[in-house]
Amino acid sequence: MFKRRSKIFEIEKDSGFATRVLMLSMPSALVFMMLVALHLLPSSIAIMAYASIVLFNLVWLFPITFELQQLKKYIFKLSQDSSVDIDNMYMSESETQDIIDAINEMHHFWSNKAEMLEAQAISDTAVLDSLPDPIMMIDKNGSILGANAASHKLLGKNITERKIEEIITSNNFINAVARVVRQESDAENLIFYVSKSQEENDDDEKKLYAHIKRLPWVSKGRAVAVISIYDLTKALKIEKMQSDFVANASHELRTPLSIISGFIETLQTTAKNDPESQKTFLRIMSEQAGYMATLIENLLSLSRIELNQDSPPEDKIVIEPIVDDVVKALSLKANERNIKFNVNIPKQIPSITADPAQVRQLLQNLCDNAIKYGEEGKDIKISIKQHDSVPLSTSHVVASGPAVAISVNNHGSLIGSEDINRLTERFYRMQAHKDKNIRGTGLGLAIAKHIIIRHHGNMKISSTKRNGTTFTVYLPVEQPKN
Ligand SMILES: Nc1ncnc2c1ncn2[C@@H]1O[C@H](COP(=O)(O)OP(=O)(O)OP(=O)(O)O)[C@@H](O)[C@H]1O
Ligand SMILES: [Mg+2]
Repeated sequence: MFKRRSKIFEIEKDSGFATRVLMLSMPSALVFMMLVALHLLPSSIAIMAYASIVLFNLVWLFPITFELQQLKKYIFKLSQDSSVDIDNMYMSESETQDIIDAINEMHHFWSNKAEMLEAQAISDTAVLDSLPDPIMMIDKNGSILGANAASHKLLGKNITERKIEEIITSNNFINAVARVVRQESDAENLIFYVSKSQEENDDDEKKLYAHIKRLPWVSKGRAVAVISIYDLTKALKIEKMQSDFVANASHELRTPLSIISGFIETLQTTAKNDPESQKTFLRIMSEQAGYMATLIENLLSLSRIELNQDSPPEDKIVIEPIVDDVVKALSLKANERNIKFNVNIPKQIPSITADPAQVRQLLQNLCDNAIKYGEEGKDIKISIKQHDSVPLSTSHVVASGPAVAISVNNHGSLIGSEDINRLTERFYRMQAHKDKNIRGTGLGLAIAKHIIIRHHGNMKISSTKRNGTTFTVYLPVEQPKN
């Protein structure tokens, strides 16, 4: 470690070198003084002998003092973690070398340990930050010692070293934390509410579940408890959506059912002998039964698609024959409103990985809408183009790579921006169309949306006076690989 170097010896002023030489020479000085006093030795010889002892001590103590000084410097520098320039050191004693070796070994051991701890702390932080739910550590005063990224997202950026009760003001929560910190309880679980942050433009409160756990006594740090929080708001929203869906579906089924029952009663009583009324009522009853059948078919369709939502399609399909098929199937309905399909498909459109039956259903729903809500006598334009990518979505994952864009355009009643955002909600129908008594279950676009999500695609809707209403569906050429 240390090399012998012929460098000029330098001893610091406070090294105690002179004192040490004097102290070591003191006993011999006393002996010589006594010998001179007793006339056993001439004073000149005593002085010479004493001088040679002092000189010997000087020569003997110098390297020890020097090396002690070097050792002091070395340990000081090591403790500061600065790099030690060992070339400038001069070591001659083997004991000093042994001490240095021992110090080096100890330093090496602790540096490795510190590096390991640092790496461990970094990976622990990364793991905690990757958790979707907030996790915090508090000390015995309720101050937050550490919080993961999800906590900062939920409760704000500067929460560390602040008191937990300043951040979460729910009384139930504060009391539960106090019970754990005061060692009255090992763990507490509770549900509490906080108001939503300003970015979330929702007036409702957030419903949160907290688990507060006291750390075992063996943990010697400042942390006494860990608080983990789960956001129940989303689950609650899904629950509400499900109950709304059941309520809507029952309502939609109950209306035609009550119409049919009403007419059955009329046919059995007042219209018993009126063939003309019977004919009209039976036609209405058949329409209502047809509507119920469509509604049930759409509901089943929706649940089937949702069931398969997570298994991406695998077939390679060409879109052109599917479009032809849909156009043929709807031509009768289109003729009734004097509408023609104007299809434009370039030759070089690539085949895509998709579920052919679902793509057919998706196009059929869009074209059916274009016929129903488009202006009588105006053409419906269907065009297909190649695209570099599927536009990104904030609600679901889209595939990367090239895509095919299928647009269905019609002229007729325009859709306002507020309605555009809600069209794919189940049972959502524009008031204007309900008022005009245009029949529909309000599920066609919800089905389209779920098909698109399963295909990792996207849909854009535009509605302007000049260009009419266009629904453009982007489907990726390749599905993402798992
Ligand atoms: N091309 C369009 N032009 C204007 N409004 C449209 C168009 N397509 C859909 N809409 C509006 O969006 C609503 C939802 O459409 P969706 O296809 O989901 O249901 P629907 O057509 O009412 O019923 P279904 O398709 O189940 O028979 C429609 O009721 C209508 O108000
Ligand atoms: Mg529809």
